[in-house]
Amino acid sequence: MAIHNFLHILLLLCSLMIINTGCTAEVPPAVKAAYYPSFSPDFPPSAINTSFFTHIFYAFLVPNNVTFKFDLSNSTALLLSNFTTTLRHKTPPVKTLLSIGGAADGVVLPFVFARLASKASSRSQFIQSAIEVARKFGFDGLDLDWEFPQSPKEMKDLGHLLKEWRHALKEESKSTARLPLLLTAAVYFSADFFLDAIPRSYPASSLKKYLDWINPMCYDYNGAWSNTTGPNAALWNSNSNVNSIYGLRSWIKAGMPPEKLVMGLAQYGRSWELQNLKNHSFGATAIGPGPGAGMLSYHQVETLLNQSGAIVVYDVDTVSVYSYNGSTWVSYDDAFTTAAKIGFAQALRLRGYFFWALSYDSDWKISAQASKSWILDE
Ligand SMILES: *[C@@H]1O[C@H](CO)[C@@H](O)[C@H](O)[C@H]1NC(C)=O
Ligand SMILES: *[C@@H]1O[C@H](CO)[C@@H](O)[C@H](O)[C@H]1NC(C)=O
Ligand SMILES: *[C@@H]1O[C@H](CO)[C@@H](O)[C@H](O)[C@H]1NC(C)=O
Ligand SMILES: *[C@@H]1O[C@H](CO)[C@@H](O)[C@H](O)[C@H]1NC(C)=O
Ligand SMILES: *[C@@H]1O[C@H](CO)[C@@H](O)[C@H](O)[C@H]1NC(C)=O
Ligand SMILES: *[C@@H]1O[C@H](CO)[C@@H](O)[C@H](O)[C@H]1NC(C)=O
Ligand SMILES: *[C@@H]1O[C@H](CO)[C@@H](O)[C@H](O)[C@H]1NC(C)=O
Ligand SMILES: *[C@@H]1O[C@H](CO)[C@@H](O)[C@H](O)[C@H]1NC(C)=O
Repeated sequence: MAIHNFLHILLLLCSLMIINTGCTAEVPPAVKAAYYPSFSPDFPPSAINTSFFTHIFYAFLVPNNVTFKFDLSNSTALLLSNFTTTLRHKTPPVKTLLSIGGAADGVVLPFVFARLASKASSRSQFIQSAIEVARKFGFDGLDLDWEFPQSPKEMKDLGHLLKEWRHALKEESKSTARLPLLLTAAVYFSADFFLDAIPRSYPASSLKKYLDWINPMCYDYNGAWSNTTGPNAALWNSNSNVNSIYGLRSWIKAGMPPEKLVMGLAQYGRSWELQNLKNHSFGATAIGPGPGAGMLSYHQVETLLNQSGAIVVYDVDTVSVYSYNGSTWVSYDDAFTTAAKIGFAQALRLRGYFFWALSYDSDWKISAQASKSWILDE
């Protein structure tokens, strides 16, 4: 598919979106964010070029599974203080948020959050401890990354947690005469878990009322956990609702104002090993994960592409790229598809975008293109 055609269709798509959503008057300042994985030892906070970002999330801290408070080891305390101190002295300045949770500890963590959120006493312990840590280290805000509430009951508890959290932030701000901490959450790409055995929806009215914004994770739509290839982060998909346009619209339909939506973008790809070298489109059968155990940073994808004559395909329908060489198959986004997605986010009048994750880019290529692509309102 020629790039020319691809761009043409995208522009058409974006102009349709503008007509659909119309214009609103007051738009709060754009959010250009990224998560900083504190577990990247070779990427210290000093390596972050802040000129591409407005907000950086420290990923992650997890609460104690019994007390629901944060027990910081000395080494973690050092990391937190290095992070906020380093970023405070950067030009231009960025705001920092402490993100709580994450997917790495996937099996246990959702249960910890479920127990924590189920009782007023544990919610309060958690909230007080989170505020204490954020203030102690000089963060500008807190972010909840609960992946994911498993039932309608847990969704309701999430609503209670956020209500009490916002109340505590207001009180703390009043009593200390400081600006209130920001409060945000990373959420599923869609407001409804429509694929799972237990259908459930986020308490969107609570998210709207108590959070500064939410970060829908518009990626991980396909991966080596299934044996067929597919786009990691399709903007659109004519065969399935697993795509970012469906997800973001579901959030708007659920009542989230667009200016409280910050679209997730992936600076990584998903890889497979093909079964049949001649079968390399979406839906091709794979025999398992490709290089990187199924996940490659954009930088690693570029290294692969540079090695030999890998074939690169821009897919118009999904607004994504895939590449194959021999039995290796990778789905990813580059600077071009990222810019196209940002055009869409602006057409929907979203608040901004965030990346998972810092350190995955190649010479800031995608981050720079994204920042440049976000056209400021005058
Ligand atoms: C960060 O990126 C900007 C824009 O490309 C560049 O002008 C600046 O020198 C970079 N800063 C650092 C510290 O590398
Ligand atoms: C809490 O975590 C510890 C250490 O990971 C584990 O041994 C213990 O079983 C957990 N307790 C609960 C109640 O989940
Ligand atoms: C952690 O730091 C405190 C105070 O700086 C010190 O008293 C304590 O011994 C340290 N703990 C460990 C395990 O290094
Ligand atoms: C942060 O840690 C690095 C070493 O990883 C050190 O060079 C730097 O001085 C520290 N910065 C602050 C502000 O603590
Ligand atoms: C390619 O994969 C698709 C989807 O799995 C399958 O329907 C088709 O038969 C395959 N074609 C070949 C030539 O293996
Ligand atoms: C994927 O294929 C491998 C190798 O054929 C097989 O062992 C595995 O069970 C398959 N996984 C799924 C999810 O179908
Ligand atoms: C890939 O090649 C391009 C063009 O030569 C170069 O700019 C880029 O730095 C290379 N990327 C990596 C990760 O080696
Ligand atoms: C691509 O395929 C060629 C020919 O099989 C091989 O030499 C090269 O190493 C492959 N590159 C990658 C990145 O797999």
